[in-house]
Formats: sequence, structure tokens, C-alpha cells
Amino acid sequence: MPDGSRSAENSSSHGADASPVRYQGVTKRYPGADSDAVHDLDLEIPSGEICVLVGPSGCGKTTAMRMVNRTVEMTSGDILIGDRSVKDGDAAILRREIGYVIQQIGLFPHRTIGQNIATVPKLLNWDKNRTDDRVTKLLDLTGLDPEFADRYPSQLSGGQQQRVGVARALAVDPPVMLMDEPFGAIDPISRGRLQNEFLRLQADIKKTILFVTHDVDEAIKMGDRIAVMKKGGEVAQFATPTELLMEPADDFVEDFVGADRALKRLALMRVRDVDLWNAPSTQAGRRSDDVLNELKTSEVPYAVLVDGENRPLGWLSTRDLDAETVPVHPDSTGVPMIDADTTLRDGLAQLLAGGSLYGTVVDGRGRLTGVLSVEIISDFLASKEAAEVAIPAVDRPHDD
Ligand SMILES: Nc1ncnc2c1ncn2[C@@H]1O[C@H](COP(=O)(O)OP(=O)(O)OP(=O)(O)O)[C@@H](O)[C@H]1O
Ligand SMILES: [Mg+2]
Repeated sequence: MPDGSRSAENSSSHGADASPVRYQGVTKRYPGADSDAVHDLDLEIPSGEICVLVGPSGCGKTTAMRMVNRTVEMTSGDILIGDRSVKDGDAAILRREIGYVIQQIGLFPHRTIGQNIATVPKLLNWDKNRTDDRVTKLLDLTGLDPEFADRYPSQLSGGQQQRVGVARALAVDPPVMLMDEPFGAIDPISRGRLQNEFLRLQADIKKTILFVTHDVDEAIKMGDRIAVMKKGGEVAQFATPTELLMEPADDFVEDFVGADRALKRLALMRVRDVDLWNAPSTQAGRRSDDVLNELKTSEVPYAVLVDGENRPLGWLSTRDLDAETVPVHPDSTGVPMIDADTTLRDGLAQLLAGGSLYGTVVDGRGRLTGVLSVEIISDFLASKEAAEVAIPAVDRPHDD
């Protein structure tokens, strides 16, 4: 991040905004085991991308990831960050330089949020001002209230704690982040939100990220590239999400990706990537006749009531518009608000859950950017391999 936080402490080492990571014939056999946990792994993760390792339990994902910061030492082969081997130099220093987020979040319960985030800066002896500035910046970046700095982990929700975990991993602006099932312990709804937030953050910080999950939907959503692993730490396929869904390399991958592969393709598109519809929007107090006039030519048969910041407050029914001016409180509030960064699949789930044909789409600040309709989604499905994409599969909303 161009915030001047790069330090003398880490510019001498692997420090960089982001670096590629290369596994070269990496094998791990744990002492006493009669087979390899990871076998002859070759992977190239371009700088600034998210590479997801996905596969069944015990297939070696965590082992593969932990060899990068040498919390597990490889048996043979090499891993390069940029052009340096992780084996060069001191493992303890390497660990400090690489952001690491784990499933159990692992915050120190008796330290404040601020102290948790400042763990590595403290080890590096940053002065107080610089540390405080960094903590404030990271709280902001991860969408947390600056006041949280003085709270303790138990005073935060699981999702908030997870954001602190991410903030802590980003503290010294690492060139590489390792994330081991980072959202695994979070309820499905918050998980979807955290995933979106994290993707927004990543668009900004562009770190090289190794991301482990056993959830193929999460892999498709988060990954620029996905390595599907099978038992013994072998990669069955290393591909982009689209390639994985369109051309699974073998039966194992096909099985793993799942029978509802067609529906999963909805997860390849974000709501912001499709042409949204427009609905007339208005603040309270305008002449209803003007709004009714706009409705005559509108793609969406309802108007959206917005506040002064263009944030949707509800749909205006024809009854609402019987009044001379647009009312402050419309009949139907609680419209489904769909995050523009969400996948079409999750957007559809939200429409279905809300029992609504239309949902207002909002940007990161909650401002109206358009309307998503069930029809937009069905057109999208029809346009892409319509034969394979069975609409009835949609009956079953995605669990988040
Ligand atoms: N410290 C260890 N000592 C011996 N064997 C281990 C050790 N850690 C992991 N293993 C074994 O190595 C294999 C891979 O484990 P690993 O934790 O990497 O799997 P994983 O893909 O992360 O699984 P999960 O999805 O359950 O987290 C497993 O068979 C496991 O039992
Ligand atoms: Mg694991």
C-alpha cells in the first residue's frame, strides 16, 4: 500500500507490495508417515492474485500453505517468493513478513484490538505514533470502527473479529498473505458479506494471496485461480474458476465441483458485471405526478424512494403515489438491497429470499446503482449454455 508504511525493517527482505509465489517440486512427508502429505507440488501464483487451494479434508491444503512461511518445513523442493527462496534466511523473520489468517481467528483474548493488530509492528519496534497510525488505517480499511481499538476480542462479533484477523495480517504490508479457511467459523450470511468486503479490499491492496477452503463455492467466488487438490497433496487441476466449471480435468474434479455446476456458473458473474435495469428514483416531497410520468417509460414498474445520499429506502407503490407528493414513509420498506459486488448467484438467492422480482443494487456506500431483476438473471442463464443451465435448480436458494 502506498502509505509510506514500508519500513527499513522489511524493505531489506521479502518486503514488496506483492510478490509472485512459486512452488517447485515441493514435497512434505511428516515424520513417521508412510506417504507424502504434499507430493511434488508445482504451482505458480502470479503477483497480486488470489490462489485458492481447495480439496477434501486431509488432502494437504494447510500443509502446502504453511510451507510458505515455514511453520511447516518442506522435505524437498523449493518455494520462491519473488526470486528468493523461503529457505534463505531466518524462519522467524519470514513469518513476521507474511500475513497469516487462520480459521479460529486466533486473536489474543487479553489484548485489545489495537494491540492485536499491532502485534508484528511491536515485534519490529515501530514507534508509538507510527503504530497507532497504522492501526487506525487498518481499522478503517477493514471496515471497523476506530473506537474498537480499545475493546477486547470478546466484545466483538465473530465477523468483526475476523476483520481484525485480516487487519492484523496486513499490519506490515506483507507481500504475501496466507489465509487458511479464514471465513470458516462465520455464519453463512456474514460469510458472504465478509467475502465481498475482502474482495473489495483486495481490489485495492492487490496482495498475492494463498487461500485455503474446502468449500468449492467459496473457491469459485474468491479465486483468480484454483488448485483442486486430492489426497496426498496432488493437484488434480489448476485453473481459473471458469475453466474449472467449463472443463473439469477429470472425474474427481467434476465430482468435486458438483452436479449443480451450471448453477455455479452464476457465481462467476458479479451483479455489477451485468446490465442492470433502471427504476425512477426520487426523494420524498417531489410531485407524485412527475414520478408517475417517469414510470410510464421505465424498465422497472416501481419507483425507488431514496434519501439525500441516493440510498434506497423502499419501493413506492401506486398507492404511495396517489398522494400529491412522494411520502416520507412508503408502503414497502425493507427492500432487498443487493451489494453490487455480490455474485449473481447470491443476488438471486436474495431475490428469492425476499420473494421479490426486483432488488435495488447498491455500491459499497449503500448508494443506488440500479435494479437487479429475476429476468436479468434468467436472460443471463439463457445466454450462456442455456441447455445445461436448468432453471428449476434455482428452486433451491443458496444457503447464504
Ligand atoms: N503435524 C503433523 N504430523 C503428522 N501428520 C500430519 C501433521 N499435520 C498434518 N498431517 C497429515 O498430513 C495430511 C494433510 O494434512 P493437512 O492438515 O495439510 O490437510 P488439509 O487439507 O488442510 O485438511 P483440512 O481440510 O481437514 O484442514 C493429513 O493426512 C494429516 O493427517
Ligand atoms: Mg487444513
